[in-house]
Amino acid sequence: MTSNASTDLPNDLAAYWMPFTANRAFKKAPRMLGRAKGMHYHTPDGRKVLDGVAGLWCVNTGHGREEIVAAIQAQAQEMDYAPPFQIGHPKAFQLASRLAAMAPGDLDHVFFTNSGSEAVDTALKIALAYWNVSGQGARTRLVGRVRGYNGVGFGGISVGGMVANRKYFGSLLTGVDHLPTTYNRSEQAFTRGEPAWGAHLADELENIVGLHDASTLAAVIVEPMAGSTGALPAPQGYLKRLREICDKYGILLIFDEVITGFGRLGHAFAAERYGVIPDMITFAKGVTAGAVPMGGVLVRKGIHDAFMKGPEHAVELFHGYTYSAHPLACAAALATLDIYAREDLFGRVLRLEQLWGDAVHALRGLPHVADIRTIGLVGAIDLDPSDGGPGKRGFDALNEAFHKQDLLIRTAGDTLVLAPPLIISESQIGEMTEKLGKVIRAVA
Ligand SMILES: Cc1ncc(COP(=O)(O)O)c(C=O)c1O
Repeated sequence: MTSNASTDLPNDLAAYWMPFTANRAFKKAPRMLGRAKGMHYHTPDGRKVLDGVAGLWCVNTGHGREEIVAAIQAQAQEMDYAPPFQIGHPKAFQLASRLAAMAPGDLDHVFFTNSGSEAVDTALKIALAYWNVSGQGARTRLVGRVRGYNGVGFGGISVGGMVANRKYFGSLLTGVDHLPTTYNRSEQAFTRGEPAWGAHLADELENIVGLHDASTLAAVIVEPMAGSTGALPAPQGYLKRLREICDKYGILLIFDEVITGFGRLGHAFAAERYGVIPDMITFAKGVTAGAVPMGGVLVRKGIHDAFMKGPEHAVELFHGYTYSAHPLACAAALATLDIYAREDLFGRVLRLEQLWGDAVHALRGLPHVADIRTIGLVGAIDLDPSDGGPGKRGFDALNEAFHKQDLLIRTAGDTLVLAPPLIISESQIGEMTEKLGKVIRAVA
């Protein structure tokens, strides 16, 4: 054990094992944030950093919104915590009703979690349990997608399609198949919005049905736009096709909207953009604009109602978290939803989409730019790998952006991702892409 005296510590950054981080490199050259307001972070040493990725795809309202801060403070004073099992508090019900009203179709029940990963595992468990309570318990197989990211729980990494997130963690869930990725550079390079090529890739579900029989298939889970593998929007017509095949065989369709929910693609949920109603929607991140952890699953009425049988004193679903519908998270979410509505931030994304696309696609032609994709307020720039190996140029770009250009970006390997707060101004879009252009040149 080291003593607490700081002089005894060779490096006081040592104890924190950082998630999804190159820990050794970070601790040699830390990228630290101290404060945040609006479109900016401020570093502890006083630099103002433009937030190109809404924290981590979550601070959609911009940072430090007074209403959200006040709501959290007031809630902490009024009631810090309430147990969610067998006991309720009013804001949980208010928030569920608000979310149900925002969701398309009859997605009118909400199960609360604390993160996107928990939301995904919850949705998968609800799907499996639904088939059990519906007398079709043989439907146990799950279908995800290559290059999908569905969080880091064992369910999420089993249906997810990112090799590094899977290969070290044993056998995972059994009975999982994967649809092919929807991304194909030779057919889709430099696309704005949904690529024209690729709807037919949904037909692969027919082959999975052919292999296992529909009677064994519980659910398909996809992101409407795969975010964490570098922003891969669904091809035109793909999600409709997937819905049709799921309907044909009675398979549940889950949209993982942890990133696409709350305005990123110009709607409360991307399901609306595509005119497709899934059976469940997972959400997190933007629901509280990142201020307090929260996630959840929106569930269609028929699925929820299937559980509401048996003796009334009996628990209907043996699942939940100590912090489901935490009062601070509910207060933050209610204030966040007010801001979205009052400032029409989702509509703002649709209004900015063209200008945003123009600005990001203007980076085409810079050294090593192999592809650019934009949709809603998302932009992804694939760079060719450098001689340092896959991911090195991306990592250099992250550092260059943070330390030299005062810009926070997200990288996925050699892909640079932008997903700013939805309050970004037109001039800040120009500033952001200009900074990113400098970064790309610097790492050439
Ligand atoms: C689509 C999707 N699902 C699930 C998750 C996991 O969310 P969390 O990190 O809150 O567990 C993420 C996180 O980025 C995500 O993008």
